[in-house]
Amino acid sequence: MDTDNKISRRSALKRIGATVVSGAFATSGLLKISSCTPSRGRRIIFYFTGTGNCLYIARQLAGEDGEVLSIPQMVKHGKYEFKADEIGIVYPIYGHMPPNMVREFIGKARLEAGYKFAVLTYGARKCDAVEIWDRISRKAGNGFDYIGTIIMVDNWLPNFDMNEQIRIDKHIPENLQKIKEDIAAQRRWHEPVTEEERQIHRDFLARTGLDPEVGFLMKSEKSFTVTDACISCGICTYVCPRGNYSLTPGGAETSGDCEFCFACIHNCPQRAIRFTEIKEVNPEARYRNEHISLMDLKMANNQGI
Ligand SMILES: Cc1cc2nc3c(=O)[nH]c(=O)nc-3n(C[C@H](O)[C@H](O)[C@H](O)COP(=O)(O)O)c2cc1C
Ligand code: SF4
Ligand code: SF4
Repeated sequence: MDTDNKISRRSALKRIGATVVSGAFATSGLLKISSCTPSRGRRIIFYFTGTGNCLYIARQLAGEDGEVLSIPQMVKHGKYEFKADEIGIVYPIYGHMPPNMVREFIGKARLEAGYKFAVLTYGARKCDAVEIWDRISRKAGNGFDYIGTIIMVDNWLPNFDMNEQIRIDKHIPENLQKIKEDIAAQRRWHEPVTEEERQIHRDFLARTGLDPEVGFLMKSEKSFTVTDACISCGICTYVCPRGNYSLTPGGAETSGDCEFCFACIHNCPQRAIRFTEIKEVNPEARYRNEHISLMDLKMANNQGI
């Protein structure tokens, strides 16, 4: 159910970090977050999300006092310098790799913190995602003390029926609690990876031909079509972190470099956006994390603000 009406724009902005665009980020230099608890210090968490899993985890890890900032908003506004006691990042793995925009962010960012942690969400098979992030982030000069993963609903439509996914108990509360405890203790640990997992990823790259330096960066006009069911509600124009949708007299149209985050296809109320590359398991089933509202996603990814 859409919970747009249950949350004010002001509180939504605060909770997803969009206020910083018009507020704290108007000033230049390193960002300092003023709210903090004396015991824990200042914590900033960056996130990227298509269907809300990562925003949910980011909020959970931020707690009452932490600041949760949207990577698409940081990239859009060219904000890359941050300082806090603890800095975290939460992103969904795509083919075991980070989204392209997350690579761009970490490549340009200067993150100053005594403790840095990364939590990668996934739906079925993480393979060597932890090592991939370790390599990418260290190369960018932003190595992380803690890198862990958490399994959530898998939003990859070609392999999974969303109606079935939401019924599977993936033990999210228990796994999240463990991560919270690790981070509270500032544990320095990278989740172990097996040689078999590395090999599966190598096979995946060979099979798909994806460039490991880029990951998923497609063309939205090649991957998605908009059907006559479109009612020009405009939701896709807000939830796309690359601003790939525009409204025309004939309905929504899409084009541009695409993260493959699936925010557009999952959030269209008419099921009017179809994936054209690979057949979907269930074209009628769509997903958004139960704790995340449509307004949250719009504010997280909207390229118009
Ligand atoms: C393009 C794409 C590729 C994905 N690749 C993987 C993968 O390799 N392994 C996996 O377990 N889940 C994969 N997933 C599932 C997501 O990582 C998972 O559902 C994630 O929690 C979504 O986070 P979000 O709701 O914040 O967007 C993929 C999803 C998409 C859209
Ligand atoms: S979200 Fe769906 S119905 Fe709304 S404008 Fe986009 S394609 Fe059309
Ligand atoms: S077009 Fe769809 S899948 Fe591509 S970046 Fe935009 S919302 Fe994500």
